[in-house]
Amino acid sequence: MDSSILSACDSCTSCVLSRTRKKVVFSRGSEKARLMLIGEAPGASEDALGKPFVGRSGKKLNFLLESVGLNIHEDIYICNAVKCRPPKNRRPTKLEMAACRPWLAKQIQLVDPLVIILAGSTAVEAILGIKGGITSLRGNWRQWEGRWVMPLFHPSYLLRNPSLNKGSPSELTRQDLLKVKKMLERS
Ligand code: URA
Ligand code: SF4
Repeated sequence: MDSSILSACDSCTSCVLSRTRKKVVFSRGSEKARLMLIGEAPGASEDALGKPFVGRSGKKLNFLLESVGLNIHEDIYICNAVKCRPPKNRRPTKLEMAACRPWLAKQIQLVDPLVIILAGSTAVEAILGIKGGITSLRGNWRQWEGRWVMPLFHPSYLLRNPSLNKGSPSELTRQDLLKVKKMLERS
């Protein structure tokens, strides 16, 4: 099923980002996973390779996931709120997010995850409709359409704040991922 959605998405021209993208960036990981992660939008590496989170923030993300015992090939399905790269990595606009929303909805329907991680404020806005406030939202469970949702700092924010000390964004994110791991184990 994913392959037919994928090829349909590959030729999508529903917003202006279709004019500047190199590749549509759909997903990586497993469709059978009970965990889904939604990021913001592709960057340069993702646009070149056609896979989400394959650049520097992807390395950081992989490292954090594996550090709590999640297998990045089997335990998670990774995608973005917007499938094509915004020029100069600007934030996707409201219009672009709305145009791309049906693809995200199809992915959620396909994977049917128990838990959704929202990595950063764009993903929080796309799913929960809340603008801003990631610092107070992160680490707290929410319910959304019968699923557990966990907002997290975006990995690129963690790269800009490299401290690993207690209370640092990276350490807090690891705690948040441990909560996700526990939820998956007990559900
Ligand atoms: N940042 C994102 O939000 N998504 C990616 O795929 C890469 C970087
Ligand atoms: Fe289509 Fe989404 Fe790409 Fe816009 S960003 S062209 S809506 S796939």
